[in-house]
Amino acid sequence: MTSFASDNYAPVHPEVMEQISKINSGHMQAYGADSVTKDAIQLIKETLKDQNCEVNFVFNGTGANVTGLQTVMNSWNSVICASTAHINVDEGGAPERILGVKLLDVPTEDGKITPELIESQWVRMGDPHTSQPNVVSITQSTEMGTVYTPSEIKALSDVAHKNNSYLHLDGARISNAAASLGVSIADLTKNAGVDIFSFGGTKNGLMGAEAVVFFKPELAQKYPWIRKSSMQLASKHRYISAQFIALLSNDLWKRNAENANAMAKLLRSKIEKNSKIKITQETQSSAVFAILDPAHTVELQKKHNFYVWNDNTGEVRLMCSWDTTIKDVESFAADINSVCK
Ligand SMILES: Cc1ncc(COP(=O)(O)O)c(C=O)c1O
Repeated sequence: MTSFASDNYAPVHPEVMEQISKINSGHMQAYGADSVTKDAIQLIKETLKDQNCEVNFVFNGTGANVTGLQTVMNSWNSVICASTAHINVDEGGAPERILGVKLLDVPTEDGKITPELIESQWVRMGDPHTSQPNVVSITQSTEMGTVYTPSEIKALSDVAHKNNSYLHLDGARISNAAASLGVSIADLTKNAGVDIFSFGGTKNGLMGAEAVVFFKPELAQKYPWIRKSSMQLASKHRYISAQFIALLSNDLWKRNAENANAMAKLLRSKIEKNSKIKITQETQSSAVFAILDPAHTVELQKKHNFYVWNDNTGEVRLMCSWDTTIKDVESFAADINSVCK
C-alpha cells in the first residue's frame, strides 16, 4: 500500500535500521548515560552550530512539544499559536491537560503567524484575572505545508522577546522546511532566535525519535524531571539516540526531505490544471492541499489513502514521504484526474 495520508505511514529508512542494528550488542548504560546518546547529542550540536545548547531525546512529537513548553510555563500562562497548530488541534488537548495552560490560537490564511497577527495578544499583562502569554509557538514546516523564512522567524522571536516571552518551534517537519528553503536547520532555529525547539525525526524516516533542544541552557535545568515525570525518558535510550545518528549522518535528513518535497511538487504539477480541483496552499514542503468534490474524495479513497483536512470545505491533504516514488505520484495523479471531472 502506498499512501498519501501521512509521512507517519511510511516505513523506517533502511539506514536507520542499519544504525540501530549496529549498536545492538552488549550492555550499555540506560536512560541516556550511554555513549550512543553522547554521540547523537554531539551531532545535533554540530548540526545546530551551537555547542552550548541542551539536547534531550523523547519518544514522540506531542511529548517533545508539551515537555519543552513545560520548562517555561506556569498554569496561568498562555501560548500564542496559529489556530491550525498541532498543539492546538491535534494533541488531544495535551498542552491543556498536562500544562493546564490556555492556548491563544490565532486564525491565519496559510498556517503562518506574523508579528502583526499576534501583537495584540499581549494585553492585561500583570492582571491576575487573565492568563499571561509567555510563549509564541510556531510550526516549521507548518501544518498547511507552508514554510517560514529565517527572517520571518527572526521577526517573531523579536516580538516574543520584546514581550518577555519565548519562541517555541515545533519542528516535526523542520527538515522539509530547511530542504525547501535551501538553508541550514541552524538558520531556522538558533540563528533566528528560537528558544525551545522540537527537533522532529519520526516523520522523516525514523522509527520514533524526537529531540527537545534548549538554546538557553538555563531553561533546561528542570527538564530531566519534567521528561521523566511525563513518561518520555527511554530506558533503552541508545535505540532512540541511534536514530538521530543515522538521520544526521550522510545528509539523510536532507535526502529524505528533498524527496518528499519534490514528490509533493510533482503531484501538484500533475493535478493543478484540473478545473475540478482547487489548490488552496502554496506547496512549499511535502504536502499538497486541495479542495475536491466530496463525492470524488470518497471514490478516490476506495483506492488511495489520504485525509480530508476540512469537512466543511472538502479540503484534503495529500502528503508525500521520504519513500514516495515518481511512479506512486503518477498513478495517484492519474486516478485523481480520471475521477475528478
Ligand atoms: C506539526 C506536528 N507536530 C507534532 C506532531 C506530533 O507528533 P506525534 O504524533 O509523534 O506526537 C505532529 C504529528 O502529526 C505534527 O504533524
